Amino acid sequence: MKIRKCLFPAAGYGTRFLPVTKAMPKEMLPILTKPLIQYGVEEAVEAGMNTMAIITGRGKRAIEDHFDISYELENQIKGTSKEHLLKEIRSLITKCTFTYTRQVEMRGLGDAILKGQALIGREPFGVILADDLCINPGGDGVLKQMIALNEKYRCSVVAIMEVPEDQVYKYGVIEGKEMEENVFRVTNMVEKPDASEAPSNLAIIGRYILTPDVFDAIKQTKPGKNGEIQITDALLHLANTGMVLAYKFDGKRFDCGSVEGYVEATNHLHSLEEKKK
Ligand code: UTP
Repeated sequence: MKIRKCLFPAAGYGTRFLPVTKAMPKEMLPILTKPLIQYGVEEAVEAGMNTMAIITGRGKRAIEDHFDISYELENQIKGTSKEHLLKEIRSLITKCTFTYTRQVEMRGLGDAILKGQALIGREPFGVILADDLCINPGGDGVLKQMIALNEKYRCSVVAIMEVPEDQVYKYGVIEGKEMEENVFRVTNMVEKPDASEAPSNLAIIGRYILTPDVFDAIKQTKPGKNGEIQITDALLHLANTGMVLAYKFDGKRFDCGSVEGYVEATNHLHSLEEKKK
């Protein structure tokens, strides 16, 4: 079955970016002239998806407005030299359907994904955390690489990267057996471990392909680290009862949920744009 839907959990408060995130969603922070979530939607479209299911919360209406026509603005710039600036976003709006639901209480990423069940139904789907910006210039995007693996093994896939040992406490960390180059069968996963307890330095980043049985697994998952429903705990259940793969992707990932990562991404994409000139 072709994967058509991509879920964007975007309900978090983005406290690391206060005060800017007080009245503006973190996902609307710009990298050059595009908001973070638009990069995510473009990555999903490149992977063949056409339905974007976005989990929002209070204060996130700017996301819905972004993926809609702005008649006044379009009318204003029609026929001027600025018209091309809306070309990319207009094309996304034409190609995709956007659906939304709200997570009422921020009970963790697992809970946000479970809220998406109403929008996804019973089919495999992609997940993008838009504050993790992934690029792979000249090659396939990260989600597209992961879809190829899902098509081959028909199971859930998480994207991983190596991180320094003193950074593992920020991530879900996996332990696994390498099945083919850069592909691991998950045998254990721990959410935000201390360095001394981490099973490896292979950290999960914000890209997933999930099979619909994950919804049942989340329903059975009790609050874990920080009292939140952790997707890592639900996926460990799937790994123990079936198969979950972890994939060391080709490309570069920027943690745009942190100020340092955000600045790094801005500088990197700006230098790529300059080289194109
Ligand atoms: P983060 O851990 O980055 O949390 O969530 P956050 O609230 O967005 O940011 P900080 O830490 O306060 O600065 C990772 C992803 O999971 C989503 C967030 O929107 C983000 O994309 N998320 C997290 C939810 O949608 N709901 C939740 O309850 C928690």
